Amino acid sequence: MADLKPIYVFKRFERFWHWSQAALIMFMALTGFEVHGTYMLFGFEQASSLHTTAAWALIGLWLFAIFWHLTTGEWKQYIPTTENMMGVMRYYSIGIFTGAPHPFKPTQLNKHNPMQRVAYLLFKVVMAPMIWISGLLYLYYNAWADWGLGELDLSVIALIHTAAAFMLLIFLVGHVYLTTTGHTLFSQIKAMITGWDEVEEDPQ
Ligand code: HEM
Repeated sequence: MADLKPIYVFKRFERFWHWSQAALIMFMALTGFEVHGTYMLFGFEQASSLHTTAAWALIGLWLFAIFWHLTTGEWKQYIPTTENMMGVMRYYSIGIFTGAPHPFKPTQLNKHNPMQRVAYLLFKVVMAPMIWISGLLYLYYNAWADWGLGELDLSVIALIHTAAAFMLLIFLVGHVYLTTTGHTLFSQIKAMITGWDEVEEDPQ
């Protein structure tokens, strides 16, 4: 096996943003599905109020993250590409089980493989807006008439919000599974904690 070379990929704010977002989303799934009636944990009233507090924290975090991505140019990491896409898909469906080398080597300027670029872009432009727009509409249900949204149906908004929550849960499961497919079971998690990943050095 080729030697591993350390590279610094996840900057300090990025790691803070990633883990805070992960914690908030898991907490919101926990409180949200209690509001939904799936189980009883905090009690409906408290689950609902914790969910709303966490929602504002998440929206605040997203605003900072958007500002950071725009000012550092890191948003470019999410521009989709088809280059090497088939290679990466073949790796995750076959190569990973036969010990084939990973077809993508991250660098600081290109740290996401083509599958990650598409998945994270979908998260940012479809799933996240779907959950916050439906969530804010849900929260301000009493203001709909004043906003001229009287025709909206609460059950439709609740359904969209719940569907987005399920999509986020499915994303989370796939995401956590993929974190275990690095050089070791926890090497990707470690990279997101320390900022340092390891890539295979090309043989000289
Ligand atoms: C970021 C913006 C979000 C806002 C503003 C928001 C807001 C809300 C509001 C106001 C409710 C209704 C609570 C009540 O009736 O007392 C709700 C319900 C719910 N939320 Fe969120 N939420 C957000 C994010 C999330 C996330 C990230 C998840 C899960 C991953 C989630 C999952 C749920 C679920 C499952 C329900 C129950 C829906 C139902 O059965 O009607 N929410 N949310």
